[in-house]
Amino acid sequence: MTVAAATGGPGHLALGVNIDHVATLRQARRIHYPSPLEAALVAERAGADNITLHLREDRRHIQDADVEAMRPLLATRMNLELAVTDEMIDFACRIRPADCCLVPERRAEITTEGGLDIAAQVARLSAECARLTAAGIRVALFIDPDPVQIEAAARVGAPVVELHTGRYCEVSGADTASELARLRLASRIAVEHGLEVHAGHGLNGDNVAAVAAIPEVVELNIGHSIVARAVFIGFAAAVAEMRGLMTAARLTAGDGRKTA
Ligand code: PXP
Repeated sequence: MTVAAATGGPGHLALGVNIDHVATLRQARRIHYPSPLEAALVAERAGADNITLHLREDRRHIQDADVEAMRPLLATRMNLELAVTDEMIDFACRIRPADCCLVPERRAEITTEGGLDIAAQVARLSAECARLTAAGIRVALFIDPDPVQIEAAARVGAPVVELHTGRYCEVSGADTASELARLRLASRIAVEHGLEVHAGHGLNGDNVAAVAAIPEVVELNIGHSIVARAVFIGFAAAVAEMRGLMTAARLTAGDGRKTA
């Protein structure tokens, strides 16, 4: 099967820049800066292929007004992350971002912990995917790199899965290799099921290369580490740096093998 990202042609690995934590900094003082919209526009000019943002039910960072203001101004694609609730699905159908990523959400969590349990809610997710698709939105499901969830995702009718890289990013030593193997296997299985494969969560300059080198993965969504790096080198430079690391990893697969 041909591996091609939504943008950039065959072999291109898209970078979705998640700007949630620009809003986190703003909400820490409940004032009007730094602006997530300005960050999105800077990220696009610095090499982002799309802008990712998560409207959480508790509105801890991104606000409804951020999404509404950004929607007509982005030059690239908006990828809106949402919990599977009536309120959020209604909101997405009104805003009509290019892409939506359905994620599990628990109010007390610091960040999204674990992927969606699709296998446990196939009927509900099939209905929500159909509704979003009818609104012209491409749907992704955020799942753990687990074959059971991938098979369920294919049954639900979403065209894309985003593999949760959080565990790979957390472990060390021999566990890193086994988590990477899970991500590689899951990527292959997803493509065999006709799904486009994205990945994200916890990726940073030290761990991104191995995931970027998985040939089936066509998009990475990265936020916290880019915003953190921006504190020291500026936002545009942090986006460009990540873009450069991803491109380099894609061209040489870690051990020097050419993959594209
Ligand atoms: N992908 C999804 C589905 C997410 O929920 C998040 C966090 O909002 C990310 C990617 C980005 O994760 P991080 O901020 O750790 O790079």
